[in-house]
Amino acid sequence: MLRYLIQTFGCQMNVHDSRRIEEVLYARGYEATDAPELADLLLFNTCSVREKADHKLRSMVGTFRELKERRRDLVIAVAGCMAQQRGEALLSEIDLVDVVIGPDNIPELPELVRHVRSGGPPIARTVFDMDAPSFLTAQVRPERPEVCAYVTVMKGCDERCTYCIVPYTRGAERYRCADDIVAEIKTLCAGGVREITLLGQTVNSWHEPGDSGGESRFAALLERITREVPELWRLRYTSPHPRHVTDALIDAHARLAVLPAHVHLPVQSGSDRMLRLMLRRYRRQDYLDRAQALRRARSGFTLSTDIIVGFPGETHADFEATLSLVREVGFSGVFAFKYSPRPHTPALRLGDTISEELKSERLARLFEVADELQQRHLQSLLGTTLQVLIEGPSKSAGAQPANCVRVSGRSERHEIVHVDAPSGLDLSGQLLEVRIDQAYKRSLVGTPLEPWPEVASMPASAAKSKTAVRLPLMVT
Ligand code: 5AD
Ligand code: SF4
Repeated sequence: MLRYLIQTFGCQMNVHDSRRIEEVLYARGYEATDAPELADLLLFNTCSVREKADHKLRSMVGTFRELKERRRDLVIAVAGCMAQQRGEALLSEIDLVDVVIGPDNIPELPELVRHVRSGGPPIARTVFDMDAPSFLTAQVRPERPEVCAYVTVMKGCDERCTYCIVPYTRGAERYRCADDIVAEIKTLCAGGVREITLLGQTVNSWHEPGDSGGESRFAALLERITREVPELWRLRYTSPHPRHVTDALIDAHARLAVLPAHVHLPVQSGSDRMLRLMLRRYRRQDYLDRAQALRRARSGFTLSTDIIVGFPGETHADFEATLSLVREVGFSGVFAFKYSPRPHTPALRLGDTISEELKSERLARLFEVADELQQRHLQSLLGTTLQVLIEGPSKSAGAQPANCVRVSGRSERHEIVHVDAPSGLDLSGQLLEVRIDQAYKRSLVGTPLEPWPEVASMPASAAKSKTAVRLPLMVT
């Protein structure tokens, strides 16, 4: 039996793809290991959205040089965006790499590994499935119950934001039909999944693949899922593009209780000048209007966002406009990045005009404002009761009372909530009413309203296995 170890970098799409890679390998008799020395296949599922990710991958693969020299039959594979971007060139750029595999070629992985193990030369497969798009479907494994799962509704991106490499690494937009999406969600729910996150580079631009008008029918998709899979507790989606936040989608947030009172809506900048240069196709005011409409649709609604600082030509006034937008929307979370010039992107011709020092300064100022907003939001929740869907053991240490373990989950918005539960009680997949007692920097701690629930919400097969088996999967 062959063993694999996967390291995942980057976004949720990569986390999703890594799961599917595992399933492809599992179906061919592979087994997971978290010890590199025991692995026959080391796979890095990569991100290339910023240059730092590139460097990280190169230095990480380098740390396995000694192991690879000792274990000649060890296969090192690179998947994901960097694989797609560099293709065959990666084989010579990093001499340790045996297999380069693009996101649309995942089913071919076992065959490529077999080819290398039987003495074939290093090999790259990075062909987009433009003619016959396929979407890898989750295989439910009873021995590995999951509470939350991702389901892809579209892939690729036609937006062409001028800083972004994704249209190049993930190709043109391809849509998945609603029948397949609903069928996959039903299967996952039957296997114990309670929360689904719909995935796509511009997830809310979704429409049926054959729909020639191409108008977003995303709200209708959400309605259909809600109607046909009533056993689903929560339905999230990421990442929406502001220009596809239609009235119908806002209305869906007002009517469908299954949608959480939160959305991650990347804005990138608060300056109209920057938004134009970034080719975001909306203005500051459009974003503010949509954010406000979402807020009105559902009480307690929160938004988080992505922001790029130091885009070419960003002036002091442009950056101040971003800060003022962040304050005006009152984001509960901000993911901010220094602009990083990427190959094949239109923004390259604008140069990289903002110094590293100024980028760092702006990033720090932005985080200061964002942290203050987040802390104010978390503090405002003290004493309130939230519905927390427990996902599993907590990463936060905390000082638990004796005979307790710390578990965590997400609220009906998106806050991380930790709970100290009696050890031996498997709460994964339970929806708990939790009174919030304490606010950390990025999460909350609370006490469930008594009594402790029975272990009943997971399917029998999952409940039997007490703790959810986590396969080696690292997100950095
Ligand atoms: N430089 C910096 N950040 C970028 N992002 C995308 N491309 C770049 C780039 N070239 C950020 C955007 C996007 C997030 C996933 O990564 O904010 O929303
Ligand atoms: Fe990149 Fe823009 Fe497409 Fe998002 S919408 S993946 S930022 S090009």
